[in-house]
Parts: sequence; structure tokens; C-alpha cells
Amino acid sequence: MHTFPNGFYWGAATASYQVEGWNENTDWAKAGKQGRVPLAGRLADHYHRYEEDFDIAKKLGHNAHRLSIEWSRIEPREGYFDEVEIEHYRKVIAALRKRKIEPFVTLWHFTLPLWFSETGGFERKDSPEIFARYCAVVAKALQTEVRFFSTMNEPNVFGSNGWLRGSWPPFKRFAVTDLISITNSGRTFEARAEKGIKPLFLYLRVMKNLAKAHNAAYDSMKAVAPAIQVGMVKHVIYFHANWNPFNKLKAAIANYSWTSIYMNRTHKKCDYIGLNYYFHKKFGDRATYLKTDMDWDIYPEGIYGSLALLWKYKKPLYVTEAGIADREDKHRADYIERQIKAVEQAIADGIDVRSHLYWSLIDNYEWALGTEKCFGLVAVNYETLERTIRPSALHYKKLIEQYSKGIETKA
Ligand code: BGC
Repeated sequence: MHTFPNGFYWGAATASYQVEGWNENTDWAKAGKQGRVPLAGRLADHYHRYEEDFDIAKKLGHNAHRLSIEWSRIEPREGYFDEVEIEHYRKVIAALRKRKIEPFVTLWHFTLPLWFSETGGFERKDSPEIFARYCAVVAKALQTEVRFFSTMNEPNVFGSNGWLRGSWPPFKRFAVTDLISITNSGRTFEARAEKGIKPLFLYLRVMKNLAKAHNAAYDSMKAVAPAIQVGMVKHVIYFHANWNPFNKLKAAIANYSWTSIYMNRTHKKCDYIGLNYYFHKKFGDRATYLKTDMDWDIYPEGIYGSLALLWKYKKPLYVTEAGIADREDKHRADYIERQIKAVEQAIADGIDVRSHLYWSLIDNYEWALGTEKCFGLVAVNYETLERTIRPSALHYKKLIEQYSKGIETKA
């Protein structure tokens, strides 16, 4: 039986700051200039080369693409909305539509306009209203071209790296984070963070404000553009355990803290939920795993458990990101194939999954880790800006074709 529904979306994702180049009016560019994170600069110059990149996506068989709008371009000063930049994104969306690629538009993917970050960002009491106003402007402007919007990308990653780990702006670090950190988001930068107990309280405030901001944005967007679909893109770490009940309890607490608290606050204001899956943590696990270039276990099957966790909210689920840093392209093809099988299984088991968008279409700026880590289906030469399709991208294309035609069968 072929399980992928008709109209399933296949493709890849990017985010403005990571690929566009020269997003200088942001907290990240400022941190780059201060030497706190790597400088971004021109990067892949996607801001000017999106046509070329979308041609590649088309050639690779994609029928959907997720991108983000750079808030600092649209609202460079508080309350001033730049029509020229809105027009730019209108052209970007039109370029996708022309190629029959469905756009999935994220309104905010980690970087903040300077005026906002310098006045407190999401620590500000009025941040939900500020964010909702920006989201409504974009929704109103792009509603005829875009069906799928998401308000924000991975609030928990934003909050924990910024206020618990201290590896991302605004570099605040909760003193005991060493005990609980499970991934490397930029260890060299954590050491310089402002350390103490206070960041924990600020983190809790920021997470509350982010949930309020999403909910307010949902309402403001729907008010001006009732026909659009508005969702939330959630990073899920799949915590699981061996047989040991104590380990099972640890996994349940971890899933609750990382995924459920935030989703409980926001799911009612979601037409759909986007899942970003990268890694798992199995308590009491003795197995050894191959590692990605990020040092994450290669465990694409964890997407099944992540989808199952989100399915409790009974909203359509879209895989909005899932990928592997693999500069040599040794593991990517196998990773994608195993992951698609796991998504297929989820669908067969009754979970309403509607897309698989690989992270990322092209190599990009991996935040505090710079451009060393290569997630792209397409390699980018940062000197010449030449794009080179990696072999795994062609494997993904083949899988898309097979699954779309229903050739792949389940036993
Ligand atoms: C983020 C991306 C990031 C990717 C790989 C996701 O958490 O949305 O911006 O590049 O993971 O780390």
C-alpha cells in the first residue's frame, strides 16, 4: 500500500539570515562585529540568487520550499515598514509560484531587528504586541500569494541558547546549564556569557512572551487574512528510554519540558504544527551511533516519535525541517531514506503528516558554528558562489519520484 497522500509536499528549507547575506541590521550581525559569533557577511547571496536556487530546487523535484522573511528588513525601525523589502519578498514568492513550488513562509527565524533587541527584545512586556503587528503587516501584504505561514521558528532553541546556554544573543547563561546541555550550539562563545541565576528567570519570562507573541500574531494575522494557514514551527528532541522505569520517567519529564509546556500554551492558535527534528536522546542507551558533523547521533527514525509527540494536539503536521550536517555527503542519502520510511510509517499509523522539507536546500550559516557545517543538498562555494548539487540530493529526488508515483510499497 502506498501511504503518502496526494498533494504531499516534498522539498527543503532555508532561513533568511543563514543564506541571504548582509542582514546587518540585526542582533546577530552586531554580535558578529563584536567577535561573539562568526561574521555572516555575504554568505550564499541568496537575496540576489534566489532564482538560481529555486531552479535547482525545481530540478531536484521539490514541490514545496520553506523560507523565512527577515524581520529587520521589513521593519528596520520601530513601526516603520519598508515597502521595497515587502516587494522583494513578493518577487521571491512569485519566483517559487512560477516554478510550481508551494511557499512555506516563516515570519521570524531567530534574528531580531536591532531596535528591538537593543530595547530588550522578547524580555519586553510589550513584545507580543510588537511581534503581532509585524506579522499582520506581512500576512496582509502576502496573503494572496502565500497559504502557509508560521509565526516563529523553534522558540525553545532561541530561548535556551540565548538565556540558558549563553551561546547566542543576548548571551545570558544560567549558571548550572553545564549539567543539562546536550548539544553544541557554540561552546566557544558560552564561556564569555553573562553568568548567574537571573538568566533562568529571564528565560522563563521570554518563553512566556514568545507563547503570547505567537498567540497574538495568530489573531492579528487571521484578522487581516482569514484564509491563510498559520502555524508554529516546533523543535522536538525525541527523548526516550530503555526498559528502566526511572529512565522512562526522565524521558517523560524531558519531553514535557522541551515540547509540551510550549505547545500546551500555543496549540489552540495553530492551524497546523511544523516539526523540526534533528536528534534524540535515549536514557540508559548502550548503543553506539554514527555521528553527524554536529556530533549528533545519526538516528533519523526518531522523527516517528517526534511526530507522535506532536500528534496529541490533533493538528495537521508538516515536517518543516529535518537534516544532517555531512560535508562529505557520506551519510545524507541513507539518512533521508530512513527518515522518509519513518514518516511513511507515521502516516500508515494514522498520523496526519503533510510534508517533508529537508534542512537545508543550500549550505548556510550554522549560527554560532559559522559556515563549517554543511547541511545543504547543494554545496556552496563561498568564494565563487558556485552551487554544486550533492549526490544525496539526487537520491532524495529519486525517492520523491518513487513515493509520489506510489512505486515504493510497504510490505
Ligand atoms: C534551525 C536552523 C539550523 C538547524 C541546524 C534548526 O534548529 O531552525 O536554523 O540551521 O536547526 O542546526
